Amino acid sequence: MRKQTLANCERFITEELKNLENRILGAEENAVRLEYDLFVELREKLKGQLPRLQRTTQALKALDVLLSMAEVAAERDYVRPSLNADGRYDIENGRHPVVEESIGREKFVPNDTHLDGEHRVMIITGPNMAGKSTYMRQTALIVLMAHMGSFVPASKADISLTDRVFTRIGASDDLFGGQSTFMVEMSEMATILKYATQNSLILLDEVGRGTSTFDGLAIAWAAVEHIASPKCGARTLFATHYHELSELEGSLNGVVNYRITAKEQGDDIVFLRKIVPGGEDRSYGIAVAKLAGLPAALISRARQIMARLEVDDQERGSIGKSILVSPKAKDRQMGLLDEAPMALANEIAELDVVSMTPIEALNKLFELNEKAKRI
Ligand SMILES: Nc1ncnc2c1ncn2[C@@H]1O[C@H](COP(=O)(O)OP(=O)(O)O)[C@@H](O)[C@H]1O
Ligand SMILES: [Mg+2]
Repeated sequence: MRKQTLANCERFITEELKNLENRILGAEENAVRLEYDLFVELREKLKGQLPRLQRTTQALKALDVLLSMAEVAAERDYVRPSLNADGRYDIENGRHPVVEESIGREKFVPNDTHLDGEHRVMIITGPNMAGKSTYMRQTALIVLMAHMGSFVPASKADISLTDRVFTRIGASDDLFGGQSTFMVEMSEMATILKYATQNSLILLDEVGRGTSTFDGLAIAWAAVEHIASPKCGARTLFATHYHELSELEGSLNGVVNYRITAKEQGDDIVFLRKIVPGGEDRSYGIAVAKLAGLPAALISRARQIMARLEVDDQERGSIGKSILVSPKAKDRQMGLLDEAPMALANEIAELDVVSMTPIEALNKLFELNEKAKRI
């Protein structure tokens, strides 16, 4: 049959070709319909078996979780924790399951955690980047994993049955909710203090930073007192920059000091990542800032300012004691560091600027500048 006449040719078709064309053009549509019919048929069949299927998936889910935990435990050298109901946490060589994977097992420094009725609140100090947050979180994760039925990243772990783990970590701004960072921090604290029991574990990472040093410290101090008191009594890890809180050890029942070690080599800082008993009285902030790559001139200027502030800091060091002892016991003494700025000020006051030549003035300025740097 002739189908079409073109400029210089003719196109023909046969009956068979026409049928073939129809079959090809309808094939996709047929396939889709067939597939859907089969699917509906299968769905109808399965519907009758729904409860059985759901039981199977439940079992598979549980198996999947248990298998993953078993695999991780075997691969990463975890141990089976024991549980107690005595409020005792005894972790030896605990590790952070995620950090150790990301930095490499051999680079991660394991640490112990011991908390019980006598050691309820750990005040943890140490420089920025020392590993305070990591340490606290690894402890919470080990507790959580033990409660899940998992092995834990440690060489030994005896974990107290815990009703809740509370955390106050990081600055999670809720700007859209109309709350400032500090407000978020305080309302989280309020929740923790309201619900924590002596069977709870609390992690407080740097409480009281979103405000001035004094009221921040005051709040942090009062919070430790509250948590350590019998009406709360929760086991607590409290990381802080307020060295003053170390004063609480010995005067407040249940409070113990720990610090994560670092050492200085010249102007640089080396992190040892080991937690040891005792408080830290420095924060090494400038050394860490240097490490982060702040300009050298800025760093040396910061050291100058720091040296001057240290006079105040000496006074701040006694704040802790002044809260504990009587308010008037604290008589400010003029420290060594006060004398140097005074001498410099006197020297400047005595200059006879009017009679100096410009070059003398410049030399003097240079000399004073050198002296000031050393203060
Ligand atoms: N125990 C550890 N062993 C090895 N590296 C660690 C350890 N703890 C922390 N780190 C490393 O140090 C970094 C800073 O730790 P972090 O806990 O955030 O310090 P901090 O809270 O004291 O400022 C982590 O990101 C991690 O890479
Ligand atoms: Mg931290």
